[in-house]
Amino acid sequence: MDRQEFLAKFGIGIAAICAGCTFASCGSTVKDDDPTPDDGTGSNPPAGALVSADLSSELRNVGESKVANGIIIVRLASGNAPESFTAVQVACTHQGVAINYNNAQGRFVCPAHGSQFNTTGDVLAGPATSALKKYTINVNGSTLSVSS
Ligand code: FES
Repeated sequence: MDRQEFLAKFGIGIAAICAGCTFASCGSTVKDDDPTPDDGTGSNPPAGALVSADLSSELRNVGESKVANGIIIVRLASGNAPESFTAVQVACTHQGVAINYNNAQGRFVCPAHGSQFNTTGDVLAGPATSALKKYTINVNGSTLSVSS
Protein backbone atom coordinates (compact mmCIF):
# COMPACT_ATOMS: atom_id res chain seq x y z
CA MET A 1 0.00 0.00 0.00
CA ASP A 2 1.51 3.32 -1.01
CA ARG A 3 1.09 6.59 0.86
CA GLN A 4 -1.73 7.87 -1.31
CA GLU A 5 -3.67 4.61 -1.00
CA PHE A 6 -3.18 4.56 2.79
CA LEU A 7 -4.41 8.15 3.21
CA ALA A 8 -7.40 7.50 1.01
CA LYS A 9 -8.48 4.47 3.06
CA PHE A 10 -7.56 5.96 6.42
CA GLY A 11 -9.14 9.33 5.60
CA ILE A 12 -12.44 7.69 4.71
CA GLY A 13 -12.33 5.72 7.97
CA ILE A 14 -11.78 8.84 10.06
CA ALA A 15 -14.52 10.68 8.18
CA ALA A 16 -16.94 7.84 8.89
CA ILE A 17 -16.03 7.86 12.59
CA CYS A 18 -16.44 11.62 12.84
CA ALA A 19 -19.74 11.51 10.98
CA GLY A 20 -20.93 8.80 13.37
CA CYS A 21 -19.92 10.97 16.31
CA THR A 22 -21.70 13.95 14.89
CA PHE A 23 -24.91 12.10 14.23
CA ALA A 24 -24.91 9.67 17.13
CA SER A 25 -23.77 11.72 20.08
CA CYS A 26 -22.74 15.26 19.26
CA GLY A 27 -25.91 15.86 17.30
CA SER A 28 -28.16 14.31 19.90
CA THR A 29 -27.66 16.87 22.65
CA VAL A 30 -30.87 18.21 24.08
CA LYS A 31 -31.30 21.88 23.36
CA ASP A 32 -32.80 23.94 26.14
CA ASP A 33 -34.78 26.67 24.48
CA ASP A 34 -35.50 28.31 27.83
CA PRO A 35 -32.45 30.41 28.80
CA THR A 36 -33.91 31.12 32.25
CA PRO A 37 -32.01 29.25 34.97
CA ASP A 38 -33.86 26.72 37.08
CA ASP A 39 -33.36 27.35 40.81
CA GLY A 40 -33.60 23.66 41.55
CA THR A 41 -37.08 23.85 42.98
CA GLY A 42 -38.94 23.54 39.71
CA SER A 43 -39.59 27.24 39.43
CA ASN A 44 -37.71 29.65 37.23
CA PRO A 45 -36.41 32.76 39.00
CA PRO A 46 -36.69 36.12 37.25
CA ALA A 47 -33.86 37.03 34.89
CA GLY A 48 -30.66 37.69 36.80
CA ALA A 49 -31.93 36.08 39.98
CA LEU A 50 -30.27 33.04 41.53
CA VAL A 51 -33.35 31.95 43.44
CA SER A 52 -36.91 33.15 43.76
CA ALA A 53 -39.83 32.57 46.07
CA ASP A 54 -43.53 33.09 45.60
CA LEU A 55 -44.50 34.95 48.75
CA SER A 56 -48.16 34.12 48.25
CA SER A 57 -47.35 30.49 49.05
CA GLU A 58 -43.80 30.38 50.47
CA LEU A 59 -42.03 32.01 53.42
CA ARG A 60 -45.34 33.17 54.84
CA ASN A 61 -44.41 32.89 58.52
CA VAL A 62 -41.53 34.43 60.45
CA GLY A 63 -38.77 31.85 60.80
CA GLU A 64 -39.69 29.91 57.66
CA SER A 65 -36.86 29.17 55.29
CA LYS A 66 -36.34 27.99 51.75
CA VAL A 67 -33.19 26.37 50.41
CA ALA A 68 -32.41 26.34 46.71
CA ASN A 69 -29.35 26.72 44.52
CA GLY A 70 -27.01 26.73 47.52
CA ILE A 71 -28.83 29.61 49.20
CA ILE A 72 -31.04 29.71 52.29
CA ILE A 73 -33.70 32.42 52.41
CA VAL A 74 -35.38 33.16 55.75
CA ARG A 75 -38.31 35.36 56.65
CA LEU A 76 -37.19 37.46 59.62
CA ALA A 77 -40.22 39.72 59.99
CA SER A 78 -43.75 40.21 58.72
CA GLY A 79 -44.44 42.20 55.58
CA ASN A 80 -42.91 41.78 52.17
CA ALA A 81 -40.21 44.44 52.27
CA PRO A 82 -36.77 43.10 51.33
CA GLU A 83 -35.64 43.88 54.90
CA SER A 84 -38.08 41.25 56.15
CA PHE A 85 -35.85 38.54 54.68
CA THR A 86 -32.27 37.40 54.60
CA ALA A 87 -30.43 35.17 52.17
CA VAL A 88 -27.03 33.62 52.76
CA GLN A 89 -25.07 30.66 51.44
CA VAL A 90 -26.37 27.44 52.93
CA ALA A 91 -22.97 25.75 53.15
CA CYS A 92 -21.19 26.32 56.44
CA THR A 93 -17.82 27.98 55.94
CA HIS A 94 -16.18 25.42 58.22
CA GLN A 95 -16.66 22.19 56.28
CA GLY A 96 -19.61 22.87 54.03
CA VAL A 97 -22.45 21.23 55.95
CA ALA A 98 -25.88 22.80 55.35
CA ILE A 99 -26.80 25.27 58.08
CA ASN A 100 -30.27 25.70 59.57
CA TYR A 101 -32.06 28.78 60.80
CA ASN A 102 -32.95 28.70 64.50
CA ASN A 103 -35.83 31.13 64.84
CA ALA A 104 -35.83 31.09 68.65
CA GLN A 105 -32.19 32.16 68.69
CA GLY A 106 -32.46 34.36 65.60
CA ARG A 107 -29.35 32.85 64.07
CA PHE A 108 -28.06 30.20 61.73
CA VAL A 109 -26.67 27.08 63.37
CA CYS A 110 -24.56 24.40 61.76
CA PRO A 111 -25.57 20.92 62.92
CA ALA A 112 -22.13 19.45 62.27
CA HIS A 113 -19.86 21.21 64.77
CA GLY A 114 -22.03 23.99 66.15
CA SER A 115 -20.86 27.08 64.31
CA GLN A 116 -23.32 29.94 64.56
CA PHE A 117 -23.90 32.90 62.26
CA ASN A 118 -26.07 36.00 62.59
CA THR A 119 -28.70 36.87 60.02
CA THR A 120 -26.20 38.74 57.87
CA GLY A 121 -23.84 35.77 57.87
CA ASP A 122 -21.23 36.96 60.36
CA VAL A 123 -19.67 34.32 62.62
CA LEU A 124 -21.03 34.31 66.17
CA ALA A 125 -19.39 31.07 67.26
CA GLY A 126 -16.81 28.73 65.70
CA PRO A 127 -15.18 26.58 64.68
CA ALA A 128 -16.07 28.48 61.48
CA THR A 129 -13.97 31.61 61.12
CA SER A 130 -15.36 33.05 57.87
CA ALA A 131 -18.67 34.76 57.29
CA LEU A 132 -21.35 33.28 55.08
CA LYS A 133 -21.87 34.96 51.72
CA LYS A 134 -24.86 37.28 51.94
CA TYR A 135 -27.10 37.83 48.94
CA THR A 136 -29.25 40.75 47.82
CA ILE A 137 -33.01 40.42 48.05
CA ASN A 138 -35.57 42.21 45.90
CA VAL A 139 -39.32 41.92 46.10
CA ASN A 140 -41.59 42.68 43.17
CA GLY A 141 -45.24 42.10 44.00
CA SER A 142 -45.32 38.66 45.56
CA THR A 143 -42.10 37.51 43.92
CA LEU A 144 -38.95 37.56 46.00
CA SER A 145 -35.74 37.21 44.05
CA VAL A 146 -32.20 36.72 45.28
CA SER A 147 -29.16 37.96 43.41
CA SER A 148 -25.47 38.14 44.18
S1 FES B 1 -19.23 22.14 59.09
FE1 FES B 1 -20.30 23.68 60.13
S2 FES B 1 -19.32 23.83 62.02
FE2 FES B 1 -18.21 22.30 60.99
